[in-house]
Amino acid sequence: MCGIVGYIGYKNAKEILLEGLKSLSYRGYDSSGIALKEESSLLIVKSEGKLENLEAKIASFSIIPTLVTDLTSTNFNREVNARGQELLDKSTCGIGHTRWATHGKPNFTNSHPHQDEVGNIAIVHNGIIKNFFDLKAKLEDEGFVFKTETDTEVVAQLIYKFKLQGKDLKSALREALKLVDGSYAIAVIAKDDDKIYLAKNQSPLIIGIGDKENYIASDSSTVVQYTNKILRLKDKQIAVLSANDVIVEDLEGNSVAIQIIHSTQTASIMEKGQYKHFLEKEIHEQPTVISKMIADAFVDETINEFKQLDFSFKDISKITFVACGSAYHAALVGKNIIEHWAKIPVDVAIASEFCSKPALVSKTDLVIGISQSGETADTLAAIKNAKSANAKIMAITNKNDSAIFDLCKPNNYVTPAGIEVSVASTKAFTSQVLAMYLLAMKICQDKKLNFDFQSNIYELRALPIIIGECIERENQYKSQMIKYSNYRDFLFLSRGVNYPIALEGALKLKELSYIHATGYPSGEMKHGPIAILDSTVPVLNIAISGKTEFEQTIYKKTLSNAEEAKARMSPSIVIACDSDENVENLFDEVIRIPDVSQIFSPIVATIPLQFLAYFIAENLGKDVDQPRNLAKSVTVE
Ligand code: G6P
Repeated sequence: MCGIVGYIGYKNAKEILLEGLKSLSYRGYDSSGIALKEESSLLIVKSEGKLENLEAKIASFSIIPTLVTDLTSTNFNREVNARGQELLDKSTCGIGHTRWATHGKPNFTNSHPHQDEVGNIAIVHNGIIKNFFDLKAKLEDEGFVFKTETDTEVVAQLIYKFKLQGKDLKSALREALKLVDGSYAIAVIAKDDDKIYLAKNQSPLIIGIGDKENYIASDSSTVVQYTNKILRLKDKQIAVLSANDVIVEDLEGNSVAIQIIHSTQTASIMEKGQYKHFLEKEIHEQPTVISKMIADAFVDETINEFKQLDFSFKDISKITFVACGSAYHAALVGKNIIEHWAKIPVDVAIASEFCSKPALVSKTDLVIGISQSGETADTLAAIKNAKSANAKIMAITNKNDSAIFDLCKPNNYVTPAGIEVSVASTKAFTSQVLAMYLLAMKICQDKKLNFDFQSNIYELRALPIIIGECIERENQYKSQMIKYSNYRDFLFLSRGVNYPIALEGALKLKELSYIHATGYPSGEMKHGPIAILDSTVPVLNIAISGKTEFEQTIYKKTLSNAEEAKARMSPSIVIACDSDENVENLFDEVIRIPDVSQIFSPIVATIPLQFLAYFIAENLGKDVDQPRNLAKSVTVE
């Protein structure tokens, strides 16, 4: 959802901006650009596509000047180019942007930084200006000329308009923002001003305070390699940065006390190590993450987590999860486990849908947001919605330095998955699923339910080994899976606790390979999706046999639904346990996982599905770590 960086100090700004953009690429990679300032000159270099394109453009700046098309001067010539090179080499002040397109195609013209009509300012923006259409029409009526399709250019032109009225840059920005309705994290520099101006509303923006230098980023992990002193701007605040100073004001111009936090984050390790892709590396990290979570979770047979919560689950009458994407699927697993073990009714809402109507919650309701990034705008809005309706709120997130974490304090559980670089979630997802089991156990503990902690903890503790064994089967999986690369449609089916894993498997496949895939409850297939089945649509089933009569019924029904699909000539694939002898003659392809009980199988069954998506995408030559059109952190609603 766009990443923003900035630097002002004494070091080479270009280097810091490019390094920052690299670490923010997970927020979008449709285009990128930087603006550098020195004395009264501005240089803007930007490029369509991934960051490598921008880096190449900058590297070839003096050698192939015609590649650099966006100098602020319209009279592009050798002198301008020489000055441009000087700025690249010497500038110690600049801003940068990596884009996930919202308004306007992902092309060069719509790439940030944007400018006002006369090229005096450069602006980068993350967010959506909701009333941009009206503002733009009004400005056009007044004679302002626009060059791009973006909402951001409206802010640049508004600033210009107020500057024409004699206001300084800070006042012009303030006046512009008073007219703007929407979300924004903004950084602005200008030819005639030596500072960097920031503004924030709903989109994240942090300042890293250094010694005679200051850093700007959408995410603190981008700056912790330089400083651990972090200032998180709050909504409707403006900040003015020089090398030695940071001033924060509200939109009325009143100064605001600065609160600096000392981040404990370490710089993100962006190394693939022995792996070809981050995705594969992150799949392989899952046993370690799960093992750590379980080791930290229990002291004897008592849950050691969730201690800081300011409520007890015995006072909660209903839980609603709000989440998006993979986190939503983890929540659906949570519903199964919590209702089964802890006997509390659980709703699961797609966060954006939860926001589309008044929240029907009260003070005995608990609304839990699940979010890897802790920044997803839809999830953040859904939790706020619940809070304003007086529900208790809580977060399960992978980032303890995020808007969702802050909103829910002290009611947080932080998954220890570490930084996920690959856009498609793997280890963060399985850690969210594991958190569902820990949460269910905590509820049983608080409610003093008659629950067999001992044997369930025993099974949990076996999970890292079982997952590890699954991962060791990587080559076997590959040989079974890549032959499915050329199908254009897939159906993923399961029932009960593994139905959300069918959804997750389908999501992973479409995200990574762009093959159309739908996840569905096995029993519901006959009510519609069965119409699409023929020999060109493989159906992948997750069928895990069970210990109890209830689990056995689920298993048998899953198999009979799979038969219905097979009768329509669909290539049939199953994920089943090693000891399951029923499946061998029923399915064309049997993908084996080590024996695991049905209730704990979702985490394990996820692993071959991650590999399926990975191998097919790689075989098709897709960009595994940065699939087209996606972003890892989606900070617009
Ligand atoms: C995006 C990502 C998904 C992720 C979802 C929710 O769509 O591409 O992988 O599951 O956002 O993200 P969150 O950070 O809230 O878990």
